[in-house]
Amino acid sequence: MSSHGAPIPMTSRPCGPLKGEARVPGDKSISHRSLILGAMCIGETEITGLLEGQDVLDTARAMRAFGAEVTDHGGGTWTVSGVGTGGFAEPEQVIDCGNSGTGVRLIMGAMATCDISATFTGDASLNGRPMARVTDPLDLFGTRAYGRSGGRLPMTVVGAADPVPVEYTVPVPSAQVKSAVLLAGLNAPGQTVVTETEATRDHTERMLAGFGAEIATEVTDAGRVITLTGQPELKAQKIAVPRDPSSAAFPVCAALIVPGSDVLVPGIGLNPTRAGLFTTLRDMGADLSYENERIEGGEPVADLRARFSPDLKGIEVPEDRAASMIDEYPVLSVVAAFASGETVMRGVRELRVKESDRIDAMATGLRANGITVEDGPDWWIVTGLGHGNVPGGAVCASHLDHRIAMSFLILGMAATKPVSVDDGGPIATSFPVFEPLMTDLGAQLVRDNQPSG
Ligand code: S3P
Repeated sequence: MSSHGAPIPMTSRPCGPLKGEARVPGDKSISHRSLILGAMCIGETEITGLLEGQDVLDTARAMRAFGAEVTDHGGGTWTVSGVGTGGFAEPEQVIDCGNSGTGVRLIMGAMATCDISATFTGDASLNGRPMARVTDPLDLFGTRAYGRSGGRLPMTVVGAADPVPVEYTVPVPSAQVKSAVLLAGLNAPGQTVVTETEATRDHTERMLAGFGAEIATEVTDAGRVITLTGQPELKAQKIAVPRDPSSAAFPVCAALIVPGSDVLVPGIGLNPTRAGLFTTLRDMGADLSYENERIEGGEPVADLRARFSPDLKGIEVPEDRAASMIDEYPVLSVVAAFASGETVMRGVRELRVKESDRIDAMATGLRANGITVEDGPDWWIVTGLGHGNVPGGAVCASHLDHRIAMSFLILGMAATKPVSVDDGGPIATSFPVFEPLMTDLGAQLVRDNQPSG
């Protein structure tokens, strides 16, 4: 089942060279945060380049339910008139965050220190994901959460009327948990201190500073210690959302494995907490260059040029790189199938609690397509077959997971036989223009329940 409607079975056929420019949409992480932080300050925040994927649209709807005025001006430009820190109104209806773990976890944090209650739900994927990782630290502020067994949605969160500041060490490498605690800390008096032992994406910290909060990060032996002073007066901002490196991963990886390809993916953020995939691909011998490197909005940005790379080699991906490419392992495993030798991915337990169990979803689908994959609780190894030797030919389950669906469609572009997915619907959560964008480059994607044109 698709997250919002009937399943959309899709097939990707082996295709000729991919050529041209791939303008991928805005960054999903930054888009969620722009709407939420915009709702938490007084005044009008203007956002350009917002990702208009379903996940972000669900967050926009949620911010309206908490009292913010959120307006779509067309062409990716949105404004948010916020209600101020601690100013969230109690929603009249259940908040449906659809497929989005980022949406629900960040919003829970943002409302956790307001004197209101809210009930959250999502689709079958989101309602199966762990929420205790967020509600445990929120409990320390004085927030209470009542969910289903195992800390799952649907869940009612009762905000703390008199929140206290918190010191918390995040037990799993998760930017969502870190961000939920920081957003809750905004409306607690005094200093909230969050420590992370592994660096995860730092958009919340950067954006909070941009919105005028007093926030400092110190790198210590214990990890990154982030100190936020509560109850600031956040100031409305103009935000230009950069293009999403996690979406860029798909045309980049496709170009590396489809013979003769040469694709330019302009304006991609290379924040070190997000760019691990591109380093890994270069370590594997990918013809991937950074052109026109520049700083935009305080972030390193480059145009990525990816060309067909016939001599990819399997590598052991450094474990300490995992957080900086956590969403990119599915598509990396596809590239690994076309490399020579083993690609070893360790320290990736978090992949088991994403929109799907991503190790299991990819391992099962890759095996069905003739590729050898071994896996354990927090590791997996793909044995590459080299170019021209990947059979393909299977129908893969996408498990309500956009990145699984897109990864298998990329596989089909370079395998010997077509590869199908049972449901391409979830792609709309993060990359609604995936199909036309990849087709313009030369991919052959068809919706199986519709006549091909
Ligand atoms: C995200 C954090 C990551 C990532 C997700 C987006 C964010 O999740 O997988 O797609 O925007 O903070 P975790 O925080 O669970 O690692």
